Amino acid sequence: MIESRKEDHVKICLNEDVKAHYNYWDDIRFIHHALPEIDFSEIDTRAEVLGKKLSSPIIISAITGGYTKAETINRNLAKAASDLEIGFGVGSQRAGLEDVGLAKTYSVVKDYDIPLVIGNIGAPQLISQHDTEPLDEEKIKEAFNMIDADVLAVHLNYLQEVVQPEGNVNAKGCLAALNQLALRYPIIAKETGSGISRKTAMDLKSAHVIGIDVGGLGGTSFSAVEVYRAKEKEDILKERIGRTFWNWGIPTPVSVIEANVGLNVIATGGIRNGVDVARALVLGASSAGMAGALLKAATLVPEKVIEQLEGVIHELKVTMFLVGAQNISLLENAEVVITGRTRDWMEQMGGH
Ligand SMILES: Cc1cc2nc3c(=O)[nH]c(=O)nc-3n(C[C@H](O)[C@H](O)[C@H](O)COP(=O)(O)O)c2cc1C
Repeated sequence: MIESRKEDHVKICLNEDVKAHYNYWDDIRFIHHALPEIDFSEIDTRAEVLGKKLSSPIIISAITGGYTKAETINRNLAKAASDLEIGFGVGSQRAGLEDVGLAKTYSVVKDYDIPLVIGNIGAPQLISQHDTEPLDEEKIKEAFNMIDADVLAVHLNYLQEVVQPEGNVNAKGCLAALNQLALRYPIIAKETGSGISRKTAMDLKSAHVIGIDVGGLGGTSFSAVEVYRAKEKEDILKERIGRTFWNWGIPTPVSVIEANVGLNVIATGGIRNGVDVARALVLGASSAGMAGALLKAATLVPEKVIEQLEGVIHELKVTMFLVGAQNISLLENAEVVITGRTRDWMEQMGGH
């Protein structure tokens, strides 16, 4: 069941239109410096993220695991993360925890030396659902050991759960369960496309997570993904709900500002290129996460993923050059103008 769901997600994201209809990153514009006064060859993109040293502030976000072909995707992504010395998160490990035979589709990651490895479980798995018990201590340890994870991401994906035909919709007690877990392990909370508000960020901070991946609106829409799955299953109601909530959520750039409560913030959701990565850092993120934009290359060979990411890193450097920032801390202070819908959002969210 889970196995086929994870495969459906990849297939749908590869073949259908699943993007939110507005990319908010375009609303953030850098002030160009006609006299950068730096040598391009001396630009330094190194950054520290969640206590780990990365060559660039980029994380390959959770995509997959748990079905046969996912092993190739994870291997291609892991090799790229290792060669480029950036972060890497596997997809939900639920399938690998339920069926040891599938654990190797994630544990291929252990064949590579990656500076930051992020595990992944779902918040719904932390609490009792109608048919399942919460993950116990052994399973949590297993999730870490399966990939030698430095950190475990707990994804908050309630939009997806409520839209998908077989979703877990009991969210009662989630924060308390997260708190229990985060007191014992390094945990980050991660949305998957609907963003994190200031209130949620404060709650997460009180629950002792060490970081927040805002997973905001503007890139892959899981509500959109579920439209195609519901259609296939001839579930008219879920298809309708999926369409209605296609563009639901807090735009990623807005969420980066909202979630800045003194924890490590990862900006995922609609990141397409190195300018978007730079935009995320200016708004206060420590790094930017990419999923959808890497998916096609991830199904091919590691070289394709590397080519794609080298392009992103080069664009980041070009942006740094044109704003006269030789390193990441100088980039963080670059000047931007915020326009369009993102500006409206920021003004009305109270300018946190
Ligand atoms: C095919 C696919 C599968 C995903 N599976 C997971 C998952 O298992 N766990 C998770 O936390 N996020 C998952 N995500 C969400 C991404 O990590 C990310 O938050 C989201 O896609 C927004 O980033 P993007 O706009 O760059 O795609 C998945 C994304 C894609 C495209």
